[in-house]
Amino acid sequence: MCGIVGVTGNPNAVEILLNGLEQLEYRGYDSAGIYVNDQKGDDYLVKEKGRIADLRAEVSADVHGSTGIGHTRWATHGVPSKENAHPHVSNDKRFYLVHNGGIGNFTELKETYLQDVTLVSETDTEVIVQLVAKFAREGLSTKEAFKKVLGLVDESSSYAFLLLDREDPDTLYVAKNKSPLLIGVGDGFNVVCSDDLAMLKETHDFIELVDGEIVILKPTSITIEDPAGQVVDRKPFHVDTDPAQAQKGAYPFYMLKEIDEQPGVMRNLIKEYIAEDGSIKIDADLLKAMADSDRIYIVAAGTSYHAGLVGKELFEKLIQVPTEVHVASEFAYNPPLLSAKPFFIFLSQSGETADSRQVLTQVNQAGYPSLTITNVMNSTLSREATYTLLLYAGPEIAVASTKAYTGQIALEAILAKALGVYKQIATIKDFDVAAELTKAANGMQELVDEKGKIEKIAADMLKDTRNAFYIGRTMDYAIVQEAALKLKEVSYIQTEGFASGELKHGTIALIQENTPVVAIITDKKTANHTRSNAQEVKARGANVLYIVSRDLATPTDQIVLPEITPLLSALVAIVPTQLLAYYASIQRGYDVDKPRNLAKSVTVE
Ligand code: AGP
Repeated sequence: MCGIVGVTGNPNAVEILLNGLEQLEYRGYDSAGIYVNDQKGDDYLVKEKGRIADLRAEVSADVHGSTGIGHTRWATHGVPSKENAHPHVSNDKRFYLVHNGGIGNFTELKETYLQDVTLVSETDTEVIVQLVAKFAREGLSTKEAFKKVLGLVDESSSYAFLLLDREDPDTLYVAKNKSPLLIGVGDGFNVVCSDDLAMLKETHDFIELVDGEIVILKPTSITIEDPAGQVVDRKPFHVDTDPAQAQKGAYPFYMLKEIDEQPGVMRNLIKEYIAEDGSIKIDADLLKAMADSDRIYIVAAGTSYHAGLVGKELFEKLIQVPTEVHVASEFAYNPPLLSAKPFFIFLSQSGETADSRQVLTQVNQAGYPSLTITNVMNSTLSREATYTLLLYAGPEIAVASTKAYTGQIALEAILAKALGVYKQIATIKDFDVAAELTKAANGMQELVDEKGKIEKIAADMLKDTRNAFYIGRTMDYAIVQEAALKLKEVSYIQTEGFASGELKHGTIALIQENTPVVAIITDKKTANHTRSNAQEVKARGANVLYIVSRDLATPTDQIVLPEITPLLSALVAIVPTQLLAYYASIQRGYDVDKPRNLAKSVTVE
C-alpha cells in the first residue's frame, strides 16, 4: 500500500525520487524517505514523518546523487514515525531497503536469525535488510544474500523490494511478489516504480514484472531473472498517459476535479465501446464465455463492490442472468457454493487490490473464465484475468473513488447490452444504452453545475454532526451504501447506508434531534415506502434531506435528479452525495484527497 521509487544512472536522482513519491503519495502518506549515493563516496539518507512536502523540506541543497531509492508509507507494522519510515538500513550501514507489502513471518525470522542484532524500528522490513547484511557478512554476494532472504519469506507475504548496496552503489536489486512494480526504461538511466504515474516525466516505456522475479538494475542494463535463475527477455510496453492528466490543474482538490470529469467519462465510454450504428465493440470471445456460463460472480472491494451491486441489477433485470456480488476479502476465505459454469467479473479501479487478486488467483487455479473491469492498463488484475475491459476514465488520484464508480456502472450497462444482443434477448433492443449514458452525462453536468447548492446543504446539515444516515430501498439501497462510504471516508462522520425498511427493526434507536438522514428515492415501486420511513425518523427529530428523481419528486424535495432509466439512476443520484462528502470534508478543514488512515490502492490483504 506504500509507494516505492528507484533510479540508477541519473545525476538528477534526488528530484526524480521526490517527484515520483509526490505522484505516488495517494498510495500512503504517513511518512517517507529517500537514500541517494553519488558513486563518489557521498551518500545521504533523509526520512521524515508526514507528507512528501515534509520530507522535501528536510532535503538540504547539498543532498545529491545519481542512484537512489525512495518510499512513501501506509503503516502496517509500527506507527508512523521517522524510525519506522523507509529506507531501512542494516546496522553495518552497508545496505538500504524500501518495501511495499507485508512479511508474514518476520517475527520468526527475527527470532531465528537475528537474536544478536538490535533493531531500531518496529517494522517487518528492517528484519529483511538486517538479514541481507548478516548473510553478506557470512560471505555471500549481495545477490546471493538477497535471494537467500527471499527464500526464507513465507507464502502469505507480499513484497516489492528495492535494495541498494553501498559497496556497489550504481546497482539496484529489485524483487516482486504480489505487490505491483514496474521497471521504467530511461535513456542512459533506468527507474523503478510502484506504478507508471510516478515516472511519466522520465519515460513512457515500462517493463512489467512477474511474481518471484528479481532484477539487477544498472544505468544501462536490466537483467530480469525468474525464480529458477533463468534470464528473462521482456519487451517494454508504452504508456500514452499524459502526465498533465494526473495534475489538479486549477482545481483545489483532485476529488472535485474527478467528480466534474464524470460527464466526460460517460461520453468517452460511448466513444470507446459503442459504434455509430449502435453496435457494441466488445470482444465476441468474451461475450461467448459469458453466454456459456450459468451464473455471474462479481468480486470487488469498497466502492467497486458498490458498483457491483448496481451491476447485479443490470445483469438480472436487463438480461435475466443470475448474478451474485461478493466482498473480495470474504470470498477469498469463505467462497459460496459455486454453480456449474461460473463466470467471474473483477471490478477494480486500480487493478491492484490484494483481496481481489487473492480470489482471482483461486479462480485461475480452478480454471474458470474471468473478466477484469479496471481503470489501469497492464495492472495485475488485468494481466491475470482472461479478459479485460478498460474504463478510460483517466488517472483517478483522489483516494475517494468517484468517476471510477460511475464508469464501472456505465461499463456494466454496456456489457449487459452487448451480452443481451449476443444472447438474442428480445427485450434488450428497448435498452438504448448510448442514449441513457448521454442522459447521464447531461444530468451529471446539470448537478455539478449546481454544486454551490450542495455546498450550502453540507454546511447546514453536516458541519457539526458525528453521525449520519443514508436510507433507500432496492436500487436506492445499493446507491446509499456507496453514498455512506464517501461521507465516511473523507469527513470521518460515522455514516450508515441503510435499507430504509430495516430501520425500525433496531437502528432507528440511533436517531435523535437533528440526526442527518438523507433519503434517496429513484425507484417508483418503493418511493412511498421510503418516504414513510423518512417520516418515521423525522418524527424522532431527524433532519431529513430528500434526493429524488424528477418523476417522483414533490415540491419540498431539496435535490431533484435529472431523468434517466431507473436501472441507471445511480449515475445521477450518486453525484450530489459525492459533493456532500467533498464539502463536508473541506468545511472541516480536512485534506479531502488524502483522508487519514487510507490509501488509494490496497495492496496488502
Ligand atoms: C473508495 O473510495 C476507496 N478508495 C476504496 O474503498 C476502494 O474502492 C477499494 O479499495 C477498491 O479499490 P479498487 O477499485 O482499486 O480495487
